[in-house]
Amino acid sequence: MHLPDCVAVLTGASGGIGLELADQLCVAGAKVLAVSRQPGRLAELQARYPQQLRWLQADLRSAEGRGRVLAAAQAMGACNLLINAAGVNRFALLEQMDEADLDELFDLNIKAAVQLTRLCLPQLRAQPSALVVNVGSIYGSIGYPGYATYCASKFALRGFSEALRRELADTTVKVLYAAPRTTRTAMNGDAAQALNQALKVGVDDPQDVARAVLAAVQAERSELYLGWPERLFVRLNGMLPAVVDRALRKQLPLIRRHSGWPGK
Ligand SMILES: NC(=O)c1ccc[n+]([C@@H]2O[C@H](COP(=O)([O-])OP(=O)(O)OC[C@H]3O[C@@H](n4cnc5c(N)ncnc54)[C@H](OP(=O)(O)O)[C@@H]3O)[C@@H](O)[C@H]2O)c1
Repeated sequence: MHLPDCVAVLTGASGGIGLELADQLCVAGAKVLAVSRQPGRLAELQARYPQQLRWLQADLRSAEGRGRVLAAAQAMGACNLLINAAGVNRFALLEQMDEADLDELFDLNIKAAVQLTRLCLPQLRAQPSALVVNVGSIYGSIGYPGYATYCASKFALRGFSEALRRELADTTVKVLYAAPRTTRTAMNGDAAQALNQALKVGVDDPQDVARAVLAAVQAERSELYLGWPERLFVRLNGMLPAVVDRALRKQLPLIRRHSGWPGK
């Protein structure tokens, strides 16, 4: 995709990665419909790029919110780039989550992304070239203790991306599944950060993640996995899951302790 020609619908635009994507898209000359519930630092960006960036307040868990996104995209001249980056995550064992936590996570991370993509497809299909970007995670390929529900949602998003890419293979719409590793944003709370430090997990800056995603958008790649050795672990998990089972079992006491779970 040629970024200056892009009219992008960007969800999660006020977040750590989303804000960087919005900024870098504007710098490249794209028009951006930036979607979130709160403006956060998008207000500054809107002041810097009044001709290019429009903020739309919408709760993507509701059909009404998603419908307004579609109408606003149409008013901007129809989108040719949809970036589903909105997401929630909480480091917690399954038994530490309640019904509302689970509903919020699945409603946003998978249901909203699928529904919004379905709504935007007629606009995307009408363009000479178009791209759907689904922001997944390395946890969309590796089931990790303490993240069972998040992993489930990102595995689903990865499956959706792969199937949709194949479903649209003879159209002008391409699909990119982008899987960052841990990134320095507000998504990772204190307990998650403490666990990452204890496990010496590599953490990326959101600027670098956004740069890599937009390079993949320009190259119209179908997949992007960020981080080394995470990319290797994804392959290892696919080929030899029992090896990964054993390695993660050794981490369990540490994971449980950081989650605040009192017993086994
Ligand atoms: N940070 C990481 O370590 C990491 C690693 C791999 C993948 N990712 C993925 O990257 C994406 C961006 O993550 P991030 O770290 O930038 O997260 P973040 O900083 O927590 O931002 C989350 C974004 O989602 C929006 N959002 C949350 N609930 C919403 C709702 N109901 N309706 C509309 N928007 C909603 C938030 O805006 P409002 O609250 O204002 O609505 C915010 O813009 C996510 O899909 C995440 O799963 C993150």
